[in-house]
Amino acid sequence: MYKIALDGPSGSGKSVMAKAVAKRLNILYVDTGALYRAIGLYMFRNDIDISDAEAVVAKLADIDLKISQTEEGQVVFLNGENVNGDIRLPEISMYASKVSAIPRVREFLLDIQRNTAKTNNVIMDGRDIGTVIFPDAEVKIFLFANDEVRAKRRYLELQEKGIATTYEEVLSDMQKRDENDRTRAVAPCLPAEDAVMLDNSSLNIDETMSAILGIINEKIK
Ligand code: DC
Repeated sequence: MYKIALDGPSGSGKSVMAKAVAKRLNILYVDTGALYRAIGLYMFRNDIDISDAEAVVAKLADIDLKISQTEEGQVVFLNGENVNGDIRLPEISMYASKVSAIPRVREFLLDIQRNTAKTNNVIMDGRDIGTVIFPDAEVKIFLFANDEVRAKRRYLELQEKGIATTYEEVLSDMQKRDENDRTRAVAPCLPAEDAVMLDNSSLNIDETMSAILGIINEKIK
């Protein structure tokens, strides 16, 4: 059984790449951001002040989170409801980022993430997979790109979904969220010491894919 940790900031292309690699290698793909988003969504829907860590933590007992793998990929169930659509709304991104800085929230999500690798080879994307969730992962990749490239990708993605926004708004939200994710005290979005750094600012999807497969082939023989 092996684990591939794919970490990096938003818009670096982690989820697209992880999905494609999982398909190619016929292994499980786990999107961990979706779990933080589901918790953010719960707080949003229940009008919880997310700057109040105690209020957020008090609500965790009311949350039952499950992930299941279907033909269309990972589905997140929040208290039994499929929330795959709502967790992608732009306003939920900042909620997810804010709740993810709370240590008890991160602890709450530890087992659900680690359990997925007990019976499957897995590629997991997130911020702390190589540093905290699987420090013993066979492969660790930190994928990144410059701010403008990442914001453009995210903007096009939102446009395709019909979500009204501007490039400037996307860039500024992304920079705020990155700052939040990078500077938090617990499990900040930073590369593991033994991660392979991959800058895909000037690589397209196919080029990024072959770079990633190259790194994996080096490590898993
Ligand atoms: O990958 P994403 O944009 O869907 O993640 C949403 C937020 O969740 C992100 O801003 C930071 C947080 N997150 C985290 O702290 N640790 C992870 N492993 C994955 C996501």
